[in-house]
Amino acid sequence: MSSKPWGGRFSQGTDPLVEEFTASISFDQALYRYDIQGSIAHTRMLAKVGILTEEEAKAIVRGLLEIQQEIEAGSFPFSLELEDIHMNIERRLAERIGPVAGKLHTARSRNDQVALDLRLYLREEIGQIDRSLIDLQEALVEMAERYIEVILPGYTHLQRAQPILFSHHLLAYHEMLKRDRQRYADCLKRVEVCPLGAGALAGTSLPIDRFHTAELLGFPEVTHNSLDSVGDRDFALEFLAASAILMMHLSRLCEEWILWSSAEFNFLEIADAFCTGSSLMPQKKNPDVLELVRGKSGRVYGSLVSLLTTMKGLPLAYNKDLQEDKEPIFDAVRTVKASLNVLTCLLPHVRPKEEVMHRAAQGGFMTATDLVEYLVNRGVPLRQAHEIVGRMVRYCLEQNRELEELSWEEAVGFSPALQPDFKQWLSLERSVEGKRSYGGTARERVMERIREIRSS
Ligand code: ARG
Repeated sequence: MSSKPWGGRFSQGTDPLVEEFTASISFDQALYRYDIQGSIAHTRMLAKVGILTEEEAKAIVRGLLEIQQEIEAGSFPFSLELEDIHMNIERRLAERIGPVAGKLHTARSRNDQVALDLRLYLREEIGQIDRSLIDLQEALVEMAERYIEVILPGYTHLQRAQPILFSHHLLAYHEMLKRDRQRYADCLKRVEVCPLGAGALAGTSLPIDRFHTAELLGFPEVTHNSLDSVGDRDFALEFLAASAILMMHLSRLCEEWILWSSAEFNFLEIADAFCTGSSLMPQKKNPDVLELVRGKSGRVYGSLVSLLTTMKGLPLAYNKDLQEDKEPIFDAVRTVKASLNVLTCLLPHVRPKEEVMHRAAQGGFMTATDLVEYLVNRGVPLRQAHEIVGRMVRYCLEQNRELEELSWEEAVGFSPALQPDFKQWLSLERSVEGKRSYGGTARERVMERIREIRSS
């Protein structure tokens, strides 16, 4: 006879190597709170349908709550031989309240139990991540407000393209984070579905009330197929996919700011407290925080690919392979939360170097497109206007001059539509102010968007 909860059928004890290899307690103990929460709801449901008496249910619930305190006090005797958090808690319950503990697992399997634990865990973590996302969004908006007027070159192909507001750049990331929040919220709909009652895979002959359990847990729905309930982790994959996309967004912001804080760009100053030095080169100041967030995006992609790969060949329903879902999920949760928090703290310590940015946006024909639109406004077809300004640019390049330096007499030679006021259209401020189309970089539009954000 083995001492395992499943020992009845076994004539030999488990080989210690197997015990160590198959155990998940070292990491799934992180689920203890959810395991207990799920067990309490299950117990109450069993009492409601008459499988447990009220006294039995009370004893079990009290025992479970004491175990929770024990775990939180750090005095719970976790045991590898008991494999996972579910059996550790159940065995401890028996030690505390005696044989009635043996009724807790009625109409339940660890298969539906662990699926529930993971769902409860993700519901909680999605809530926390959402709050962190709101904080980072808020930090972006505050920064956008503080530097509302700062102009810098906008890039395409990493070549200077058209002047934009720094605040507009910041709000672009705000939009990305908004969609990240939507993705998590959407994923939450598939997380908040109660699998308990699926049993090992087929359901149960006992008269349980799955809807009552779901209600007790605050889950709006129950799963509809017992095999699917214990066999899939697509809700977790969605969570990891949303996390991977979020990390991609954070990584792009970091990449951009790493470039901008280089001597080559010199657009940003990051406070010393948020940089680190080199052990060899005394002059170095490195944007390690940004680099690490960028680097950690790889880890989260890894978690997604890891679980996808674990799942892809599994026949229905539960397979022990699924135990491999937890570590990548836990790691992704930790990484996402840490990355969001550090960036939120970093933002107020990043200062745009206004003059450098402005200088970089000047010259280089950054407002040539504005001149095209000037001509279009005067009835010149776009293609022709493009050609005219293209020729003016080439003329300037040959003479090493800027468009602003052309006299009206020279300019009018390229097109009679050019009026003496054409130069006014070439200033950076005018260019930015002109971009009033909805979603454009005009200050007026950016402020309007900030107001919309603030009032939503
Ligand atoms: N520790 C297991 C897991 O994380 C719990 C479910 C085990 N079920 C089983 N039939 N062995 O997946």
